[in-house]
Parts: sequence; structure tokens; C-alpha cells
Amino acid sequence: VNSPNRNLISLHEDAKKLYHHILINTEMGEQALEYLKNRGLSDDTIEHYQLGFAPQQKILEEFFKQKKISYDLLRKSGLFIEDADGNLKDRFFDRIMFPITDTNGSVVAFSGRVFDQNNQAKYLNSPETEIFNKRKVLFNFSNAKDEIRKQHSVILFEGFMDVISAFQSNVKNGIASMGTSLTKEQIYQIKRHTKNLYICYDGDIPGQNAIDRALKLLQGSQLDLGVIKMPKGIDPDEYRKQYGEDKFFNYVDSAKESPVSFEMQYLKLNRNLDNEKDLTSYISDVLKVVAKMSKPIEREIYLNQLTEQFNIDKNILIKQLDEIDAFEP
Ligand code: GTP
Ligand code: MN
Ligand code: MN
Ligand code: MN
Ligand code: MN
Repeated sequence: VNSPNRNLISLHEDAKKLYHHILINTEMGEQALEYLKNRGLSDDTIEHYQLGFAPQQKILEEFFKQKKISYDLLRKSGLFIEDADGNLKDRFFDRIMFPITDTNGSVVAFSGRVFDQNNQAKYLNSPETEIFNKRKVLFNFSNAKDEIRKQHSVILFEGFMDVISAFQSNVKNGIASMGTSLTKEQIYQIKRHTKNLYICYDGDIPGQNAIDRALKLLQGSQLDLGVIKMPKGIDPDEYRKQYGEDKFFNYVDSAKESPVSFEMQYLKLNRNLDNEKDLTSYISDVLKVVAKMSKPIEREIYLNQLTEQFNIDKNILIKQLDEIDAFEP
């Protein structure tokens, strides 16, 4: 790490400590701490992730000024917003602070969450800086990488709170991208540590759409993929809150399914299979999935399933499959 970067990291480490101190030890942080406790996070978890609070009163600029940190460094850090006169104002205020670390575990950015009702964006992330490249960073990766190797697998969640909830439930190989879809840099990073990736996104419709997109994106990545589908309408963190850590741990382990099995379910969304037209297009779409299978045995299994499930002559399915193959060899 070159020295300007080291200075930026040390600035972030100091900010992390200050925000954490405010959350844990001050009256300013009381409400935020209560919010986190109400969400079921333990003291250990809050400590482990060094969660913090940026209070309503902007404190960071003053704090660093007293430490005689140069204007230039502060300006480059992304922790401040510059007004027209060049004055720096804290970017984060009245938000719960999630430190974001690089692969070495150094804090390079923050994500701040609102915790009372207002109209602001729920999460606010640091902007890109010399030390923070959103395309490269995976939340919790530094913390999880040993466990990822040990378990020979990684679980990709949608949100920070899901990863943290998983950790508290002893599922320690979880990571999340920065609220965006995976990038090739992140995929490369993952592949250096394991070849098994499970996607565990929210159980709502956007979550299911995101699983479908992620599976398509990861096709050809040479990762072995799996899906952990959440019960309808809830995300992993809500599952942990509702059912507890032990059930969470067991659920994540037992709900693992193949991408194809997910896809078969996913294609049923927005379709009424009692309706002949919907059923026809469903079977067409499923056959397109089957057509992508390289192993004859796999194809056989799913063709048999379709035959039984919908009482369709297998020869007709094979004929249609051949037409897809001819069209997309
Ligand atoms: P909680 O409400 O705290 O449990 O968050 P969540 O993770 O359940 O949020 P959600 O499922 O809505 O979104 C998943 C992820 O998308 C979050 O963890 C964020 O990384 C990102 N995200 C959500 N809302 C915002 C937003 O308003 N701004 C930005 N930049 N990212 C967001
Ligand atoms: Mn502490
Ligand atoms: Mn979501
Ligand atoms: Mn969610
Ligand atoms: Mn959530």
C-alpha cells in the first residue's frame, strides 16, 4: 500500500473508531443502539462488525481538524461533501454506520443506514475514492475468507444486514456486493478462494428476479452454483429475527437447491398453469432450460418430470427439444 493510501485508510480507521464509540458509549448513540438491539443484533455482533453511529450534529470534520489532518486528504476521503466555497461537511449524519473493508480487512468506505422514518435513501454509500472501488469490494470478504476456504463454499447475500445476521447465526461464509449485481472483478476474487457459490437473496419478487439475473451472469464463470431460496416475502435477516439463529443455520443448510430447480419454480411466477396458454409457454421455457443441459441424464430426469407432472407424451417433449437444439445449437 502506498503512503497516500495508507493515510486514507488510517483516516477511515479513525472514523470507524469514533462512530463506534459514539454508538456504544454516548447519549447521542442511544437511539441507534436501541434500534440495532431491537433488530436482534448482539453486543458481540455489533463489536465484531464495529458498527457505529454518525450523529445528527456533524462531528467528523471538527474531529479531524483537531488532529491536524490536511484539507487535501479529507477532501479525497469521500467522507465529506464540499460546498461551493470549498468547505467540507460530514457526508454521513444521523445514520448507523457499517464499515466496509477491503480484502486485507482495512476500512476503505462506509455505508450508512437511516433508522428513523424519513424520506431519505435507506442506505448511503461512500463515493468511489482512491481506496474504494465499488466494483472490487465485497462486504465481509476479509472476515469470511478463511471460513470460505474451510467450508469450500461462499454464500452471496443481498444486504449487509443479511450477512451480519448470518454471521450471528454461525453462518460465517457470507458476503454481499455493494447493492449492485456482481462484477467480473468480484467473481475473480471469489474464484480464488472457492468454486462453490450459493445465492441467498431476499424472498420477495425483486429478490427472485435478482437470483435469475445473477445465475445468468454467472453462467460460464466455471463456479458451481446453488440457490438458497428464502421463504416468500422475507429476507435472511428477517428470517433470523423471526425464527432465531439455530433455525436460520439449519434453513440455510437444508434449502440448498440447484439453479435448474430454482429456474423451474421461477418460471411459474406470473403464470397460471391451469391456463392452457400459460402452461404451453411455461413448458416451452422449461425446455429451453433443459436444452442447455449438457448431460443426457440431466435432460432425461427433467423430461420425465415434465411428462409426469403435466401428463404430456414424452416424444412430443423430445421433438420440441430437438427443435430448440436445431435453433440454438
Ligand atoms: P434492511 O432494511 O436494513 O434490512 O436492509 P436490506 O439489506 O434488507 O435492504 P434491501 O433488501 O432493501 O436492499 C438490499 C441491499 O441493497 C442493501 O443492503 C443495500 O446494499 C442496497 N440498498 C438498499 N436500499 C438502498 C439505497 O437506498 N441506496 C443504496 N445506495 N443502496 C441501497
Ligand atoms: Mn467496542
Ligand atoms: Mn431486497
Ligand atoms: Mn432485504
Ligand atoms: Mn432486511
